[in-house]
Amino acid sequence: MGLVPAKEMLIKARKEGYAIGHFNINNMEWIKAILLAAEESNSPVILGVSEGAAKYMTGFKTVVNMVEGIMEYMKITVPVALHLDHGSYEGAKACIEAGFSSVMFDGSHYDIDENIQKTKDIVKFANERGISVEAEVGSIGGEEDGILGGGEVADPKECKLIADLGVEMLAAGIGNIHGKYPENWQGLRLDVLKQINDITGNMPLVLHGGTGIPNDMVKEAITLGVAKINVNTECQLVFADATRKYIEADKDLQGKGFDPRKLLAPGTQAIVDIVKEKIALFGSLDKA
Ligand code: 13P
Repeated sequence: MGLVPAKEMLIKARKEGYAIGHFNINNMEWIKAILLAAEESNSPVILGVSEGAAKYMTGFKTVVNMVEGIMEYMKITVPVALHLDHGSYEGAKACIEAGFSSVMFDGSHYDIDENIQKTKDIVKFANERGISVEAEVGSIGGEEDGILGGGEVADPKECKLIADLGVEMLAAGIGNIHGKYPENWQGLRLDVLKQINDITGNMPLVLHGGTGIPNDMVKEAITLGVAKINVNTECQLVFADATRKYIEADKDLQGKGFDPRKLLAPGTQAIVDIVKEKIALFGSLDKA
C-alpha cells in the first residue's frame, strides 16, 4: 500500500476511542524502525517530518521518495501517512506538491484572523488534492527544530473557528510542551481539552509534546477526543542512550563494531521498542 491521507485513520480512531501515533523521522533508521514497529503491531501510523528534518534529509522530495521506497521494500501493509509537522504556509504547499499525504499548517503564531485566512488557503489547496490538514490554536510550549512556542492555552472559541474551516485534525495548546517536561509542570489542562472537545464536536484532536506525559493522563486525553499523539524527543532519547551504551561497552572497538550498520543497530532497535510501546498505550494495536 502507498501513502494514505491521515483523514480516514483519524476518523476511525476518534470513533472507536483510540489514538494514532505520530512519530517524527530524521533519517533512514528512523523510517525503518517506525514502519517495522507499526507493521509488527498491525497499526496505522503517521510519520511526522519537521521542515528542519526535511532539510537535513535533503528536501521534501527526497523524504517522499525515501519513505515510499522503504515501504515498498519492507512490504508495508498498514496505513501510513507522511505528514509535515509544524509547517509554514510555503512549506505546507511545497510538501503537498512533493507528495506528502498530510500537512500541518501551524498558524498559531499569527493573530487569529491571519491564522484563519492562511489555514483556509491551505485547506483549499490541500483538499483539491485529497491531502489532510492539521491546524493549530494556542501554542505548544518549548522548542522543536527552531520552532518556539510560548505555551499559550488555546481559547475554545478560537478552536471552533479553525475547526470549522474544513481541517481534518486540530492541535490545541493545553499546557503541553515539546521536549522534556520541567519538574514543576502542572500537567495537561484536561478541563480546557474537554471544552474544546465539546465545542468542536467530532473533530479529531491532536496532542503534541507526547514525550513524558504520564500514561494515565494520555489515556484520559484520548477519552476527551485526542485521536493523534505526537512523539519525537522520546525516540531521540532512547536512540542516544542505546548508542551510548554500545560505545561505552567498547563494542565499536571490537571486530567490525565500527561498521555503521552495527553501530546504529541498538539505537534503531530501541526506537522499534518504544514505538511499539506507544502504539499499545495509544490503543491502535491491531487497528490497521
Ligand atoms: P515531543 O518531542 O515532546 O515528543 O513532541 C513531539 C511533537 O509534538 C512533534 O510535533
